[in-house]
Amino acid sequence: MKYPVTRLRRLRSHPQLRELIQEHRLSSKDLVMPFFLKEGLRARAPIASMPGQYQHTIKSLLEEAKRSERLGIPAILLFGIPKRKDQTAKEAYNPKGELQKAIRLIKKECPKLMVIADVCLCEYTSHGHCGHLKKGKIDNDSTLKTLSKIAVSYTEAGADVVAPSDMMDGRIEVIRRALDQKGHEDTVILSYAVKYSSAFYGPFRDAAENTPQLGDRLTYQMDPANSEEALREVELDIKEGADLILVKPGVRYLDVLKKVKEEFRCPVGIYNVSGEYSMVKAAHEKRWLDEKKIVLESLLCMKRAGANFIVTYWAQDAARWLKEEA
Ligand code: PBG
Repeated sequence: MKYPVTRLRRLRSHPQLRELIQEHRLSSKDLVMPFFLKEGLRARAPIASMPGQYQHTIKSLLEEAKRSERLGIPAILLFGIPKRKDQTAKEAYNPKGELQKAIRLIKKECPKLMVIADVCLCEYTSHGHCGHLKKGKIDNDSTLKTLSKIAVSYTEAGADVVAPSDMMDGRIEVIRRALDQKGHEDTVILSYAVKYSSAFYGPFRDAAENTPQLGDRLTYQMDPANSEEALREVELDIKEGADLILVKPGVRYLDVLKKVKEEFRCPVGIYNVSGEYSMVKAAHEKRWLDEKKIVLESLLCMKRAGANFIVTYWAQDAARWLKEEA
């Protein structure tokens, strides 16, 4: 039936009706909050390119973990920045490492909070790459062993979920096997299966101090031009044992998220990355746009595109804003 009998504007005429027919809703339960822990800090240090975000001490991280739990955020994602970096990233799997200590403490103090540990070499290597360097190249297969040691180490410290973000081939299978061998069948693997080589990670590299000293990440992270390749990445990771899939970055990659969701019907998250955060913060500071509205709209769009969960530096703010509106 056509106009004038059918008028879609009728459906938008009352606030309550609009509420009733909303297809997607955002909740604090959809959100994962990332944090950076830096060894050797006396007090938390602001990250210049990410206003409102900090490199934390164990103490300030614990406070933030508790705050996240109170706000109803189900999970936090942790990145460690060690005092000593080297060629082999061995500090990453030190059972007495700073991140391992923090995980132990958070799991003790925040029983309702899920801890996801990012598994990668780049914060721990002196060259800043996500894999071992051999003759100027990233050596895939020797990196797998180190990744599995890191995953086991975080798990033994108490992490509920390990999240490999390195983009080496075959890592999910190797990590799954290593976890299972040590009796950690219940540890969940969140695979950054679809991670593009993106300029939107710029501010993160200040936060995590992981800028490659030589070259770039184009030989392991994906080309933003490709989305069929994303499906191949996800297919392999699911076959290798990934439980959860992550697409990264966020807003500009929603087509990829949708494709992955439609093809595999598995839980898929999206990472609303540092550059997306900093751009909105900067524009908000200039009063060019309204941060709260932009953020709540952007996060809702991610849900509409099919995200089951969203990793975002706005998780705490968004949870607060949603509470105010309820
Ligand atoms: C690497 C890693 C990166 C991010 C998460 N894990 C950066 C990179 O690949 O250079 C980026 C997250 C963001 O930009 O917010 N372990």
